[in-house]
Amino acid sequence: MKTVTLAFGTRPEAIKMAPVQRALTARDDLRVRVLLTGQHREQLEQALAVFAVRADRDLEVMAERQRLPDLFGRIVPAAARALAELESDYVLVHGDTLTTFAVAWAAFLEQIPVGHVEAGLRSGRMDEPFPEEANRRLTDALADLALAPTPGAAANLRAEGFDPQRVITTGQTGIDAVRFAAARGRLPGGLPPGPYVTVTLHRRENWPSLANLAAALARTARAHPKFTFVYPVHKNPVVREAVRPALTGVPNFVLLEPLEFSQMAALLAASELVVTDSGGLQEEGAALGVPVVVARNVTERPEGVEAGILKLAGNEPEAFERTLREVLANRELRSRMAAAPNPYGDGRAAERVARAVAWRLGLEERPENWDGRT
Ligand code: UD1
Ligand code: UDP
Repeated sequence: MKTVTLAFGTRPEAIKMAPVQRALTARDDLRVRVLLTGQHREQLEQALAVFAVRADRDLEVMAERQRLPDLFGRIVPAAARALAELESDYVLVHGDTLTTFAVAWAAFLEQIPVGHVEAGLRSGRMDEPFPEEANRRLTDALADLALAPTPGAAANLRAEGFDPQRVITTGQTGIDAVRFAAARGRLPGGLPPGPYVTVTLHRRENWPSLANLAAALARTARAHPKFTFVYPVHKNPVVREAVRPALTGVPNFVLLEPLEFSQMAALLAASELVVTDSGGLQEEGAALGVPVVVARNVTERPEGVEAGILKLAGNEPEAFERTLREVLANRELRSRMAAAPNPYGDGRAAERVARAVAWRLGLEERPENWDGRT
């Protein structure tokens, strides 16, 4: 029997790979192994909890305030050894983190074919998001199978010359995950009453403006006292030190530790608005019908902007604040945004990913592309 190893290391990869692990494990013609790099520690464990995923290996590479070149240097040799020891015939990586590219590179050097889940996203700018745009392009360049979450992502890959047979449109596995988690989740205990605005900010390219973005959020929250802002703050000390001074003590602003994913999904489902620079939250908002103000200049997830549920506010604090206040002041605008169709997945993405891998291993026919309709 052939062995498929799923390799991942951070919170968002874990969340979006868990449904894939489930779909592959449901087959009786494949052996499934899970290799964690441990690029994240607590946030990775929390993400896995609701899905009850057990790891076969954990490389435990995380260090406090890790530097990216050091992290890369720790992952590649350890991942290469672990992939070989697990007797991997096929490797799946996810998304655009350093783990994604480092493991893809390790697998390539070991001559083990790699499938890239969430392939083909493009912001069009190598420096934004940084370093994710480079990670995803480099991973696609090494991939045997490009599993595109949307028809648009698949079109990007074909335009770059990727063999169309090996590009398969699956939908976003994160949509499968958030539905699963929202059905099981409860709001975190002790929250004041809503309506809620869920906030997350952590991206590297936003670090220079993070303290000013937090100050803009504080002013906006004070101007809109009927909303309760809830911000589970990323563990990264750089992020914590930047956002806490401006947001501590704002009466309708709750700062929390990172939430377990089922609580996060419940919070999202109960929110009237999401404000974020995260990738996955853009899709989760769209899937749950919650409008999203995106604190970025560009997005590799343009479908939601076109559909109307995402609004790009940029990361320049004044413009960001203006857009945020406009959306909070206008209930009718929020309803219009919320009514947009979800372009990111029909909840069956993981099943298509599993079938695509089985096809590459000669176990079944190539699955049809998802057509983008939900
Ligand atoms: C990483 C990814 C980013 C992804 C994000 C998801 C890269 C280059 N960046 O960024 O694409 O959007 O994860 O959250 O791959 N830390 C902890 N505990 C944890 C997690 C992090 O203490 O569970 C702290 C550590 O001090 C660590 C620091 O956060 O050194 C930064 O973690 P790192 O994975 O390097 O960067 P992220 O900003 O989390
Ligand atoms: N998330 C979570 N708990 C939190 C914050 C986020 O479970 O406290 C989830 C969120 O719903 C999404 C994913 O983590 O599924 C996003 O991860 P993150 O923001 O770390 O990374 P990004 O999406 O920016 O790569």
